[in-house]
Amino acid sequence: MLLIFEVQLLPSHTADQPSMSPDPLAEFRRAVSVRARQFPRQWEASKKLLEDATFPSTIARLCDAVQRDDLPASVKATLLRLFERHRPRRVLDLDGDSLKSVTGLPPAKALRALAVFFGLVPAAATKRPVPHLSSDEVEEAVRHLNNPFDFLCRADVASVLDIGAGDLSFAEELVDLYGSEPKRQQRPFIVHCLDRLDPRSQLGGPLHANTERLQKLQRKEGLSFSFFGNQDMFELGDLDKQEMLASRYAIATCWAPATPTFAYEPTRLSETLIRSELERTKGTFSQTRFGKERALEVRHAGRALLFPPWKFEIAGPLALLNLLARRGFLCVLGSVDAQVFWELLAQLLEDPRYRPPDQLFDSVTLAKVFGEVYHILAGLPIGESIDLAEVASLRRHYLPSDSSPFMDSVGGHFRYIRISRGATFPDTPASSTARKFASMTEEVPPWLLTLVPA
Ligand SMILES: C[S@@+](CC[C@H](N)C(=O)[O-])C[C@H]1O[C@@H](n2cnc3c(N)ncnc32)[C@H](O)[C@@H]1O
Repeated sequence: MLLIFEVQLLPSHTADQPSMSPDPLAEFRRAVSVRARQFPRQWEASKKLLEDATFPSTIARLCDAVQRDDLPASVKATLLRLFERHRPRRVLDLDGDSLKSVTGLPPAKALRALAVFFGLVPAAATKRPVPHLSSDEVEEAVRHLNNPFDFLCRADVASVLDIGAGDLSFAEELVDLYGSEPKRQQRPFIVHCLDRLDPRSQLGGPLHANTERLQKLQRKEGLSFSFFGNQDMFELGDLDKQEMLASRYAIATCWAPATPTFAYEPTRLSETLIRSELERTKGTFSQTRFGKERALEVRHAGRALLFPPWKFEIAGPLALLNLLARRGFLCVLGSVDAQVFWELLAQLLEDPRYRPPDQLFDSVTLAKVFGEVYHILAGLPIGESIDLAEVASLRRHYLPSDSSPFMDSVGGHFRYIRISRGATFPDTPASSTARKFASMTEEVPPWLLTLVPA
């Protein structure tokens, strides 16, 4: 967005013409109206942002965007004065003259044009409703909720994206717990689930979407439900093109994030080190065939085990965080096992000491690398939660080599992170893997992370 803005702000002159210093307000007015004309669908959809129920959120989101964006000082000051100081509750409260000076438009059109300009109206908005929320509102709400999924009762669109959804037991519990309220209030209730397992595959066992559950969810009245099998979470382009997914959900969640996929961060650990560690801990592995399908064969303790062919593809926690933050106003990672948890945590804290290059985390190095943080989080009693910012500074800076669009698209960091200990929590939906932890007495209890992108 910044790039387009800068391009549009360039004064139009040729080498043989003297350049005139541009009037930033005039240039901004031009850029705003160009953008509104360029995106007619978003312009149309922007009407919704002026409705009574969404207006306060629209203003809060505009404030967020103006604060974040690299605008000329005079434009920024005028917009912040308009939205932040006066906090208008409806279009009539707006200072029409100031608004006209920055946009050249009457108040309602001005607000819609600014919403399009700052990307408040996503492309797919018309087909798949997107909640109207600012990150301020999300954080404020979530800080007061023990159960992050109660946020669905507050969002104007109760929508959830469950990635790596497995047997759909989490989706079923979620719908059983939250299905009735949106229906009564005639709010949209949307649950979209996806998993990379191909439903036709003989591999994957109990992680396959359960047919009965799938049919129950598909038939549920007042629920818009879709399951996408054989769907890599990092390849959502086709679903987006067909507008099968919303551009953003009230909550994006992932339960029991796959290992080893998210247990090693490739921007921290070399491919060679990851491979030798996989061979040491899991066994030697190679691609093979199982009947007509491709498979991964892992030789472990004298046995040959078969998995889906992509089982040992390493994406790392940064890619997962990036995806969740782009797709959710609120992100919840449930039932995160110890290995994934510490690798994830290393990416969430500011101090680079938590990301030692090419050093594997184990019981000795964890205590050394994370120090006090390790003792606090490893010792967190089951059922308790802690605001991570009280333990260590949250990460605000990501390197270009972290190469994730999240870092530029949503301000580059999480503004609030709560860490809770345990697999399941009272009155909170949980996945089947989470529920299995109760009988796995030798496993370290997992963690649940609640994150609000900035
Ligand atoms: C440990 S299982 C957890 C399943 C379920 N969420 C639960 O908690 O019971 C991890 C799931 O992630 C899926 N998965 C792994 N990599 C994926 C990817 N790149 N895209 C989508 N799903 C993926 C696997 O097929 C598997 O169903």
